[in-house]
Amino acid sequence: MRITINQIKEMKQRGEKITMLTAYDYATARLVDEAEIPLILVGDSLGMVVLGYESTIPVTMEEMLHHTKAVVRGTKKAMVIGDMPFMTYHISVEDALYNAARFIQEGGAQAVKLEGGVTVAEKVKRIVECGIPVMGHIGLTPQSIHQFGGFKLQGKTPEAAARVLEDARALEEAGAFAIVLETVPAPLAKLITAKISIPTIGIGAGPDCDGQVQVINDILGSFVDFVPRHAKQYTRLTDIISKAVTQYRDEVKAGKFPTEKQSHSMDEKLLAELT
Ligand code: KIV
Repeated sequence: MRITINQIKEMKQRGEKITMLTAYDYATARLVDEAEIPLILVGDSLGMVVLGYESTIPVTMEEMLHHTKAVVRGTKKAMVIGDMPFMTYHISVEDALYNAARFIQEGGAQAVKLEGGVTVAEKVKRIVECGIPVMGHIGLTPQSIHQFGGFKLQGKTPEAAARVLEDARALEEAGAFAIVLETVPAPLAKLITAKISIPTIGIGAGPDCDGQVQVINDILGSFVDFVPRHAKQYTRLTDIISKAVTQYRDEVKAGKFPTEKQSHSMDEKLLAELT
């Protein structure tokens, strides 16, 4: 049985920290699930860390569904959350419902995430009414980087901070089961966490959120084109992979790989008949 939204909400009530990571493929998702991370986000960040786009904006529904299916196949216990790509929930409520349903029906996810607060609250409400759990995402919402002028701290002025709080309240009211707070001042995240009843999941929002989310490539050091300030590298896979690939290249060139251990033998008599 997979983790439910009620279990996630109960974790806030108990004061138990909630962990969440992104995953985009079967093998990684399996490891994350086995590590008992209850929330796995198939983030549209895959556009940057897997597909090599400059931002999350070009990511399509088809790309998201492709990766969501792989993550679902690799997991048994975690709740898999599909991230709705740019412009798949903005144009109309019908569009939002249709695309959210695709994540559940075709992708096999248990919930969706979308960016925005007050402006998307009506869509969140309608998706939830259809039985699809929604995670909100406010503060620095990467699908709006052109509007923000880059990946910048949000909620810095009193007016901007009040707007982030208003967004959080609108999502809570609309029925979201949790909210990602991205790149906002830590004291603001603490205040919002105290003021709303649903869990806040921070990324670059300080230690006082109910939970934390990270892009898995950032904590593994497997994507180093851009390392955000909020990320901590628990290892540096780029170095490990480069070393292994270089060693493989050198061994093949030197005739040291493969050896007998990696080869298959053949009956001498059979071979003789062929010659
Ligand atoms: O796309 C993503 O990975 C995200 C997380 C950073 C929250 O939205």
